Amino acid sequence: MEFDSPQAVMDALTAADYLPDERIAQVVFLADRLDKPVLVEGPAGVGKTELAKAVAAITGRSLIRLQCYEGLDDAKALYEWNYKKQLLRIQSDVDHDWDSISHDIFSEEFLLTRPLLEAIRSPEPVVLLIDEVDRVEVETEALLLEILSDFQVSIPELGTMHAITQPMVFLTSNNTRELSEALKRRCLFLHIDYPDAKREKEILSARVPGLSDHLANQVAKVARSIRGLDLKKAPSVSETIDWARTLLALSVEDVDEVVLGDTLHVLLKYQTDIEKTAKEFTSSAQA
Ligand SMILES: Nc1ncnc2c1ncn2[C@@H]1O[C@H](COP(=O)(O)OP(=O)(O)O)[C@@H](O)[C@H]1O
Ligand SMILES: [Mg+2]
Repeated sequence: MEFDSPQAVMDALTAADYLPDERIAQVVFLADRLDKPVLVEGPAGVGKTELAKAVAAITGRSLIRLQCYEGLDDAKALYEWNYKKQLLRIQSDVDHDWDSISHDIFSEEFLLTRPLLEAIRSPEPVVLLIDEVDRVEVETEALLLEILSDFQVSIPELGTMHAITQPMVFLTSNNTRELSEALKRRCLFLHIDYPDAKREKEILSARVPGLSDHLANQVAKVARSIRGLDLKKAPSVSETIDWARTLLALSVEDVDEVVLGDTLHVLLKYQTDIEKTAKEFTSSAQA
């Protein structure tokens, strides 16, 4: 067990410059206690990936990351046979004793472990991050299920590879599609949304050295109100961090309408959103 209480998780993450809310701390605590994977869902740039990294940092575990993408298969996720090495072994065998060769080349020595297998075969417990799981096809999710429920992998030529150590597992999803019920059932569910202005201010202060309290407050509040507009893509935490850095670089001490209009492209990535926001803020300033 890594943590005594949700509060202990909260304190450790905060000390590592990851500012959690109470739900995040509670779910991380439970994941460790119940030995359950966590499915972290929410919009882009709210700290889903960063949470897994921060948990690795505070537990002193290494992070093993499986980045998901369309077309990900078991050879990239689980294991692959080392064909080159197998071939060399076959070529070097002068007796042509095929029975013994085939027994040999399908042993662990000839196995290339990929992130999922590596995570459960690690002698030291790790944090396993299965990032952006919504990017793989729903059929590919099946690859993950055995690991997530039984912490084992079946290899036809070798049998079942059991976990040597139990990883803490985080899966993230940006919700581009529904995940299967089977996958969800195996996980604790954690929704991370945009932080409230107070927490975002704390995140900014932690992540942007040299930022004044006043500016951190303003940035958090402006970001909050921009997210209230009906935009194609609301600014994420990573974008408010970039914006705060921008203001710092430009020696801005106070955000006014002119500064905002001049730097909105750091916060927003669609011209229509930029125009809409600029208009909204000028008209509210005039009103
Ligand atoms: N709670 C938080 N505490 C500290 N930094 C955060 C937090 N949430 C987001 N961030 C910052 O936002 C950036 C983007 O977060 P990331 O985890 O990459 O987002 P995503 O949800 O898309 O995986 C991080 O690199 C980090 O700097
Ligand atoms: Mg991410």
